[in-house]
Amino acid sequence: HVFATPTAAARELAAEVRQLIEYRKAEGRNAVLGLATGSTPVPFYRELIRLHREEGLSFQNVITFNLDEYYGLAPEHPESYARFMAEQLFNHIDIPNENIHIPSGQVPGNQVFVHCREYEEAIEKAGGIDLQILGIGRTGHIGFNEPGSSKESLTRRITLDRITRQDAAGDFRGEQNVPHFAITMGVGTILRGRKLALMAWGENKAGIVARAVEGSVTDTVSASFLQEHPDARFFVDQGAASEL
Ligand code: GLP
Repeated sequence: HVFATPTAAARELAAEVRQLIEYRKAEGRNAVLGLATGSTPVPFYRELIRLHREEGLSFQNVITFNLDEYYGLAPEHPESYARFMAEQLFNHIDIPNENIHIPSGQVPGNQVFVHCREYEEAIEKAGGIDLQILGIGRTGHIGFNEPGSSKESLTRRITLDRITRQDAAGDFRGEQNVPHFAITMGVGTILRGRKLALMAWGENKAGIVARAVEGSVTDTVSASFLQEHPDARFFVDQGAASEL
């Protein structure tokens, strides 16, 4: 789906989320959302906040699972994804705290495996993810599934790619401050979502979007696995669509 602007794309996706939340509410059930970080989903979160403030959309029956977190960062760290989500969305809506799930960046090394397994179990217990929101990194990663991540991979600790750390260097005031590891949902975890929506804006994403959508399905571009999912869509602006 190609849009004139990121705002237009974000509005359409937010309207869909609203429908999902209201539909589930009418059934007396929760809506389960998989959420992403990075600059890409910001207009989408802004629109969700607007729907809450101006149109009374409630998030009381919403359960969220974030894709990933930098390993080694406390939730209070300015660049942690926990902090990002609080500032960009959760502090501005009425979602119950206990409904929010983000992998912990602080779990001790010998408990990472158990933590990741419990994350998978929590997703299952919630009934699985109805709609998974995704961005895409320049390495083609979804979440932090760097090249080489298998289609079956589950939540685990990974080593960040050099390109990913370079892209994050600005936020961390230098590449040397960017964590080397992260905990991320796996490609397999993501592909279990009932619907997947990947957003990408701007010409610097055009090359990787084209490889993900039109290239071969390969673990060197994690996002290419979306081609094999029955309900995966790309929401892009003109720039990100320019090499399709
Ligand atoms: C990070 C996140 C990804 C995100 C990517 C792109 O690596 N872990 O989930 O898609 O950045 O970031 P941006 O949206 O800022 O381009």
